[in-house]
Amino acid sequence: MDKITTCVFDAYGTLFDVNAACRELSKEVGDKWNELSSLWRIRQVEYTWLRNSMKEYIDFWKITSDALDYAMETLNINNIKLRDELLSLYLKLEAYPEVKSVLKTIKNMGLKTAILSNGNNKMLESAVINANIKTLLDEILSVDECKVYKPASVVYDLVGRKMGVKKQNVLFFSSNAWDMHAASNYGFKTIWVNRSDSTLEKLPGKPDKIINSLEQIEKIFKN
Ligand code: LAC
Repeated sequence: MDKITTCVFDAYGTLFDVNAACRELSKEVGDKWNELSSLWRIRQVEYTWLRNSMKEYIDFWKITSDALDYAMETLNINNIKLRDELLSLYLKLEAYPEVKSVLKTIKNMGLKTAILSNGNNKMLESAVINANIKTLLDEILSVDECKVYKPASVVYDLVGRKMGVKKQNVLFFSSNAWDMHAASNYGFKTIWVNRSDSTLEKLPGKPDKIINSLEQIEKIFKN
């Protein structure tokens, strides 16, 4: 892939495992931990879209706690201590095992790296420090700067505004198909990191390549 100067990564689901918090407390949550994790994530993302439509921005930390409260209430899990523990784990979500070495490979190729995420600065900073990848990132870009969530195009504008790079020189990685579709439609080259064997959405934009995990990074730059 030529002309790429900058690799930009979505955070949640792409670099950081959004199921890690519920998995870590699976004994305390019980049988429903998987269900809780997925409902939490679904509502978290839906609340960003709904609040965009309603022009009612609140930051991603509040969205994340509202979504957890909804999911716990729906599944009849009534436990404030567990709620608080799950939320604190969300601040130090595990990075996928290959993330650090992939960022190193990209830096060694002389490319710039960044995160572009719905997460607020505190959440992203904390996850990045926990994963020990801060020195491998040139920028950590949060939608909190423009107070609107993905897939609004002003979010993708942040990359050019903050990094002085043209759209066509950006390679954007996301495991969230809808985010990848929007970034592609915006004008970035895109990689869909299809970690959970999902189906492409029926939306504008398309991936330039599809991989199952970032481990396959070499495939991307080979041709
Ligand atoms: C993010 C969400 C979309 O990190 O995963 O922006």
